Amino acid sequence: MKQTILVTGGAGYIGSHTCVELLAAGHEVVVLDNLSNSRRSALDRIARIAGCGLGFPLPVAVDPRPTASGVEPVGRSFSAPSPVAVNPRPTASGVEPVGDSFSAPTPVAVNPRPTTSGVEPVGRSFSAPSPVAVNPRPTSGIESNPESGLHFVEADVRDAGALDALFAAHRIDAVIHFAGLKSVGESVQQPLRYYDNNVGGTLALLAAMRRANVHRIVFSSSATVYAGDGQPPFREDSALGPANPYGRTKLMIEQILTDLAASAPEWKVVLLRYFNPAGAHESGILGEDPKGIPNNLMPCVSQVAVGRLAQLEVFGNDYPTPDGTGVRDYIHVVDLAVGHVAALGAIEQLPAVSTLNLGTGRGVSVLELVKAFERACGRPVPYRIAPRRPGDAAVNYSDPAEAARRLGWRATRDLDAMCRDAWRWQQWQAQHAAEL
Ligand SMILES: NC(=O)c1ccc[n+]([C@@H]2O[C@H](COP(=O)([O-])OP(=O)(O)OC[C@H]3O[C@@H](n4cnc5c(N)ncnc54)[C@H](O)[C@@H]3O)[C@@H](O)[C@H]2O)c1
Repeated sequence: MKQTILVTGGAGYIGSHTCVELLAAGHEVVVLDNLSNSRRSALDRIARIAGCGLGFPLPVAVDPRPTASGVEPVGRSFSAPSPVAVNPRPTASGVEPVGDSFSAPTPVAVNPRPTTSGVEPVGRSFSAPSPVAVNPRPTSGIESNPESGLHFVEADVRDAGALDALFAAHRIDAVIHFAGLKSVGESVQQPLRYYDNNVGGTLALLAAMRRANVHRIVFSSSATVYAGDGQPPFREDSALGPANPYGRTKLMIEQILTDLAASAPEWKVVLLRYFNPAGAHESGILGEDPKGIPNNLMPCVSQVAVGRLAQLEVFGNDYPTPDGTGVRDYIHVVDLAVGHVAALGAIEQLPAVSTLNLGTGRGVSVLELVKAFERACGRPVPYRIAPRRPGDAAVNYSDPAEAARRLGWRATRDLDAMCRDAWRWQQWQAQHAAEL
């Protein structure tokens, strides 16, 4: 059944891929994002993938009708205001504490040599849609791309007025709540900012949902809520014990949502605990877009491969694992996105609160990932072994059986697909920097 879904943080890495899958499933999507860690061009690229399928430029649609909120929609694809516009944002990008056993590599000047295959996705019939014309846009309010069913509100999730206007303009059936800050290291340095943004943002969202009579929510939680010294595979009932403020915001939000659902029977809550998202959309035009030096393993490997970073540092090769490097549960971001659509589809049949791991159930070592990436890009990825990083677990992976049982969902894309798609995205970025 077609629904209208509010996706907070929908311009970000996981949110943007989820928007693509929601649109493909026939839903209407309203994105709310303050673009603090994403670019508005992501909206354009979501619309280009969803509005026309792979390989065709997005038809231009202009809808001059005012929305219910009185804001003129910009009935067009979402273009960056100027070809060189870059959205300023904090340099730290995401790192999951249960994630990657590596450190930020030494940055080097961007390598001017051309990539081997240029911009187009490798080995597929996909052709990247041409950039659309620059489009004037309002600085606030609701922008729409009616052709694709995608709408965008540039606002902070803590802004009650913006939320009320959005709920007044669109009859929202359910919310997927991605908006949040996600850097573990940054959360240790700036805990109040993290509690304010993540917990405060969720409180503001839930209050607005209640005012608007919307009671369905899927929340982006994280494997960081599990106790670091626990024994993998992690099941939903494994011991909890986040080791940093970021993880604690996730656990607090889980508890807030659980208390809310217990207080009133109309609420339905799905808490999705992600393991280590990686990869990109197979079109090559959507993916993780870290600013500054990336913190997650896959974008780091990818930037080393393309020559933007000199080498990878692998923290520790003396763990009790087959090759001595840390083992994590990498999940293709499109599998993760599909998991959200499955959660929405099942939400009426699920209990008031469901907690589900989204992972593959398979551990992959840092060096295994590096080798797979080298196969995908056809060039070496230089790395050096550095000492272990304090607090890193040796092995972390999920038991995803509960999600399979409850949602009929399981991850289907393997490590080679993650590397191939991440590399395709890396190449596209290198060639289309001006469009980002
Ligand atoms: N990427 C991971 O490794 C990972 C793992 C587990 C959980 N998560 C969670 O999944 C969610 C999405 O992660 P991601 O990797 O896509 O991150 P991301 O930074 O790419 O996306 C988050 C989006 O939320 C927006 N945002 C942040 N604060 C906001 C606010 N106050 N108001 C409006 N928009 C705001 C950002 O601009 C960004 O577009 C986050 O909540 C994150 O904690 C991520």
